[in-house]
Amino acid sequence: MAVNEEQSASSQLKALGDPARLQLARLLIAGSFNVSELIRVLGAGQSTVSRNLRILMDAGLLASRREGRLIYYAWRTDLSDSALDLQLWVAAHSPSLGAELARRLHEVWDERRARSTSFFGDRAREHDRDAWLGSADCLPRLLEQVPGQGIVVDLGTGTGRILPELSRLAERIIAVDASPTMLEQARRRAGASGIADIDFRLGDLAHLPLQDGEVDAVLANMVLHHAPEPAQAVAEIHRVLRPGGRLLLGDFLPHDEEWMRDRFADQWLGFSTSDISHWLGEAGFADLSIESIPPPQQGAPAAFVASAIRAIGTGPSPSTPNLS
Ligand SMILES: C[S@@+](CC[C@H](N)C(=O)[O-])C[C@H]1O[C@@H](n2cnc3c(N)ncnc32)[C@H](O)[C@@H]1O
Repeated sequence: MAVNEEQSASSQLKALGDPARLQLARLLIAGSFNVSELIRVLGAGQSTVSRNLRILMDAGLLASRREGRLIYYAWRTDLSDSALDLQLWVAAHSPSLGAELARRLHEVWDERRARSTSFFGDRAREHDRDAWLGSADCLPRLLEQVPGQGIVVDLGTGTGRILPELSRLAERIIAVDASPTMLEQARRRAGASGIADIDFRLGDLAHLPLQDGEVDAVLANMVLHHAPEPAQAVAEIHRVLRPGGRLLLGDFLPHDEEWMRDRFADQWLGFSTSDISHWLGEAGFADLSIESIPPPQQGAPAAFVASAIRAIGTGPSPSTPNLS
């Protein structure tokens, strides 16, 4: 539904004036979910979930987006300031989800994560992925913004294809990946290229194996679309950057290439620049710039490169959900 400036706060409050919808709203502030995931987490029937979604949608509080065969719902990221105040109000005043709902929510996120983990545990398929990534490349724009001093993290390093070039630019490198198979390939590639001193760490976007404020820059190319919950991953990156540290993010713009979900275990078919800027702003990033990278060939999605710094004086993201 288009945003209607005239839409009254009262219709939004009315939509939220029901315990089940308040709980649904709280869930959708924490992330994007499709109807079957919501049915599973909430333990409610399809007709109840669909009706409550419709009421929140009609009040202009939710956005929906098609991801191939599925429609995902989330709290709108392009609301007016007064409606954004509602988001804070919902987060502060809705009842906690409770242990059982929080457990089912984490089950959904774990299943999203498992798809990617099992895909990237299969070494043979990654070569295919490398070839594809080579054609849809954000790397030149990302690499030219890498700071020459301090520690740079290559997040979701994959086969480590970025490491040789990165090692010429950065003082120290930490390479992180959730897949031991990928990390081993990256280690071998670095060894074969004669690059020493890279610190390889196994770890997940949701809980990075890095201390608070440990690093000066994070480069994350084509990894966010694998994150079970991208907003949480952005908040986690914010945590590990020092104040003033830089995030360099490359990923796809929204696209309809559903086959990429099966072939590459992609969780999300790209991101809108409004979602990206909302998540970065919520996490406490400033000086955001986003540049689109045109598709290199027909059938390939367009991409973007975002750059932002962790604003000085920002602590952990207020949007980091504490749902239990
Ligand atoms: C498409 S590859 C990108 C590799 C590399 N950044 C590049 O541009 O060549 C995505 C990588 O992200 C890793 N990955 C996927 N989900 C992850 C997660 N939740 N946490 C950390 N790494 C993850 C995968 O194991 C894989 O190596």
